[in-house]
Amino acid sequence: MKMFNLFAPAAFAAGLFLGVSAAAAADAVKGKEYFVKFQCQSCHGTFGQGGNSGPKLAPDPLPLDAMMNFVRNSTGQMPAYTATILNDAQFADIHAWLSSQPKTQDYKTIPLLNQ
Ligand code: HEC
Repeated sequence: MKMFNLFAPAAFAAGLFLGVSAAAAADAVKGKEYFVKFQCQSCHGTFGQGGNSGPKLAPDPLPLDAMMNFVRNSTGQMPAYTATILNDAQFADIHAWLSSQPKTQDYKTIPLLNQ
């Protein structure tokens, strides 16, 4: 049993590693739920298109690392979300959902705007 205890920290570290690699399998459907649950939508708009106080996040969101860096360390108007509040896997899901937003349609492809 002692041996087992010795391995516990290693198993814990492996769990952390798996947690990080979960970002690779980010889930856009969950990301949409988290965007509402963590109140991002209240400032950034229902689809991350920009709202009354928060700027546009999608389509074409910042790369995952850059976006996470901002969200974790914001010292301005936006509250910072630490990993205790919003973990890396949840954040990756939000990013996947924002990344799945369709690009804004080019107005030249809308007949009504080209008469
Ligand atoms: C209380 C309102 C509020 C909430 C809630 C909020 N934001 Fe923000 N967010 C802002 C504001 C305001 C800014 C601009 C702040 C600045 O430039 O310092 C911002 C900026 C950002 C930026 C930087 C955008 C850029 O292009 O520079 C990202 C990314 C972002 N928010 C993501 C999120 C995510 C993800 C969530 C939810 C987990 C969230 N925000 C929740 C208000 C909010």
